[in-house]
Order: sequence, then structure tokens, then C-alpha cells
Amino acid sequence: MSSHLFANISSLVTNDASHERGALGVIDNAAVVVEDGRIAWVGEVAQAPDADSSTDLDHRAVLPGFVESHSHLIFAGDRSHDFAARMEGTKYSAGGIRYTIEQTRAASPEQLENNARKLLDEYARSGSTTVEIKTGYGQSAESELTGIQVASSCSDEATLLAAHVAPPEYADKHDEYVQMVVDRMIPECAPHAKWIDVFCEKGAFTEDESRTVLKAGMEHGLIPRVHGNQLTYGAGVQLAVELGAASVDHVVYLSDADVDALANSSTVATVLPGADFSTRNDYPNARRLIDAGATVALGADCNPGTSFTTSIPFCIALAVRDLHMSPDEAVWAATAGGAAALQRTDIGSLTVGARANFIALDAPNHLHLAYRPGVDLISGVWRDGASLYE
Ligand code: NIG
Ligand code: FE
Repeated sequence: MSSHLFANISSLVTNDASHERGALGVIDNAAVVVEDGRIAWVGEVAQAPDADSSTDLDHRAVLPGFVESHSHLIFAGDRSHDFAARMEGTKYSAGGIRYTIEQTRAASPEQLENNARKLLDEYARSGSTTVEIKTGYGQSAESELTGIQVASSCSDEATLLAAHVAPPEYADKHDEYVQMVVDRMIPECAPHAKWIDVFCEKGAFTEDESRTVLKAGMEHGLIPRVHGNQLTYGAGVQLAVELGAASVDHVVYLSDADVDALANSSTVATVLPGADFSTRNDYPNARRLIDAGATVALGADCNPGTSFTTSIPFCIALAVRDLHMSPDEAVWAATAGGAAALQRTDIGSLTVGARANFIALDAPNHLHLAYRPGVDLISGVWRDGASLYE
């Protein structure tokens, strides 16, 4: 087994709080040794052990790769006109999803996979080394099965979002749609998925419908996660906590009871400011969540309707500027927070034994991600110790 030393790191984010400097466990003048795709040693460069080969990182900053815990990459078609109309005052509603459903149903599995892989490539170039992928634009038994097969061929983190919005043919028959999700879609799709998700929102699925879908998924071994409190105050957060969901995502409109419930549970609150940016929605108050003691993750939510971006650095800048997170908190939320939302302990930090998933910045430290918005600072990406971009 050969070892490789990454030397001359100006500032290393480990997310190991036992190091100095807060939750990020930053080490200055650092080095990392990788063996067999895993981190074998981290510390100051002056103390680095000998290795079989080495890379000089030339005083760049190194961070764990971003962990994107929320994306919708299984779709076809374009909704740029929707976006333009919104910027001229049209309000976002979940109904736009139906246009993408039509386009997605008409696409072949190959087209869906090519589109997903192209977006995954964008994600990787902008620093994400793990990406969860949801279905949700098929909303028929056949199309959701195709979607979950494509998602699971592209990611270990495949999510069945069988209840995103009821498709047009079930517009007046929500009960029948939910019954079909439970009786057919979940049993057929569950072998290909890790997670079950639902859009619990006015215009999508009610609290009772959402509970029915999530419980059916859990009976088939899927772990629940929820789209909640994105467009209105509602039951999403409380339902997620009640079922012990891994995360509840969007969390824009929260009552005090919602914040308390999150603070006293293991359910991660995932903020997705790209969606709020592109819908001119309010931003979630991440400060309030963090101060209350909730675990916060940050994602980009790439989807054609509300957030057609794969850039976690862009979302970090938004989180710092508009969600009132500190730069350290935003970086933690996009790395360790994403890993917590996906219940993964092998990613999101650079500690001995973790996967060697990391990125180098053309900058002296991680603060530059928010300090230099819109600038592509990602100058190297490694997954399991192998270079994806340099
Ligand atoms: O995460 N909130 C629901 N689902 C997506 C948007 C879907 C769409 O408009 O196409 C989201 O924002
Ligand atoms: Fe979403």
C-alpha cells in the first residue's frame, strides 16, 4: 500500500474540533498523508512523516469536499422562462414542476443519465465530492422507477421523491395518487433507493399525506427526509422530527416551536439559499437555528425550477451575506453539515480514516469562499485520494 503526502497547505480545514480554532479544526502550515484512498495522517507540515510520493500544494488552502445533501438531477427540459418571469414579478408556485414532469416523462433513460452526469461534473468542478440525487419529475410508476435507477447508478445517495406534486392526471384525485405511491411506486423503487422524501407544502402534499408516504417508505427500509416550510408555515418540520427524519430541507418559515423541535432532535435543518435567491423568496434565518442549537447543513438544491446552480461556493456566499452565518459556520454546514444530513461519518471531515475527499483553493484560507463571491477558487478536487481536477 503506497502513501502520498500533500504538503505545504497554507490552511487546512479538518472539521475535527479537537484541533485548535473552533469547530473547523483549522491547522496552519499543514500536510495530509493519503493511503488507499483514506486519510492516514494530518498535522503540521514540519512533522509530516515520509511518504512514497508527494504533491506540493504551494500554500493553497485545503478543505473537505462539499457534501451536497439535496439535488434534483433527474429531469429534462428548460425553465429559464419561468425564472425570467419571476424576476419580473410572477410568484413561484409548485405548479411549475408539472411542466418538468411532462418533459422528463418524454425523455429516454440515456438522456436523463447524460443530463445528470453533466450536472454532477459541474458539481465536482465546483468542489462537491458527494451529491445526493432525488427523483421527483416522473410521478408515474414507470417514470419514477426509471428515475431512481438512473439516480442510483450515478450516486450512493439516491432518494425517491415519489410525492413531489401530484401529476396532472391525478390533479383531482390526490388520495388515489398517494395510494399508488404506497402500493406500487415505493415497493418497486425502494430496492434502488436509500432515502424517501416528500414535498410537504401547500399545493403539494398535506401533513397526513406526507406522513403516509414517509411511513410506507420506512416500512420498505428507506430513511425519511422532508421538503418542509419552504413557501409557507406548515407541518413539515414537526413531521420530520416526529419521524426522526435525517433532515428537513428549506426551513424558511419557522415558528418558535419548529426551531425548538429542531434544536432538540437529531434532524438536521438544511438551508438551500439558491432556491430562495432564484424565487425571490425570503431567506431562512440560519442564525436563529444555530443559536438555538440545531444542526444546520447547506446545499445548492440544483433543480430546473427553483435553483439551477451546482455551485456550493455561491451558496456559501449567500449563507454568509443573507442567512447571517459566519464564514466558518457556512463552510462547516456545506461539509460536515451535509455529511450529518446524509448520516455519513466517512465524509465531510479530514480526519484519520475518513475518505480522502478534499479540495484545494487558489486562496490562503477558506474565508475566501465568501469573501470573493463569484470567483472560481477551486483549483483541485480529489475523491478517495484520486485527482478529479487539478
Ligand atoms: O427543492 N420544493 C420543491 N422542489 C424543488 C423545486 C422543484 C421545481 O420547481 O421544479 C425545490 O425547490
Ligand atoms: Fe428540493
